Amino acid sequence: MNKQELYKSILPQAISLIQGEDEIAAMANLSALLHQTFGFWWTGFYRVVGDQLVLGPFQGPIACTRIQYGKGVCGTAWKEQRTIVVPDVEEFPGHIACSSESRSEIVVPVWQNGRITAVLDIDSNQLDTFDEIDAKYLEEIVSHFE
Ligand code: SME
Repeated sequence: MNKQELYKSILPQAISLIQGEDEIAAMANLSALLHQTFGFWWTGFYRVVGDQLVLGPFQGPIACTRIQYGKGVCGTAWKEQRTIVVPDVEEFPGHIACSSESRSEIVVPVWQNGRITAVLDIDSNQLDTFDEIDAKYLEEIVSHFE
């Protein structure tokens, strides 16, 4: 299966893991589903807590616990209120290297009641892993947190 077919195949399960479920539990299972399906390097959530992003459920190596507003890819996606695809993390000014293995990254804001309450962050240990297909399906998945 290509990437688009893989996303389509997990979409119903991803949505059912979110709908009507505790938010942290849903984030935990979604991280596992995406991580296992695609073999990413790191897959997880940072939640907005006050004026910072705080590490939430994830799969993969130990990561930075807190990220400031506007900092790194995650803090920039939060500030600019948009999905950010980074083909090469070394080319992104201010990228926060939680792991030296990380080569490319995508960060997708999670919206609830008109506010960003978290971001979904996925890292790959290969360059140029993410594109508009990932952005489209990941945005579709996290839209169910509404
Ligand atoms: N690279 C992210 C930090 C989080 S880790 O990748 C898990 C960033 O620049 O925001």
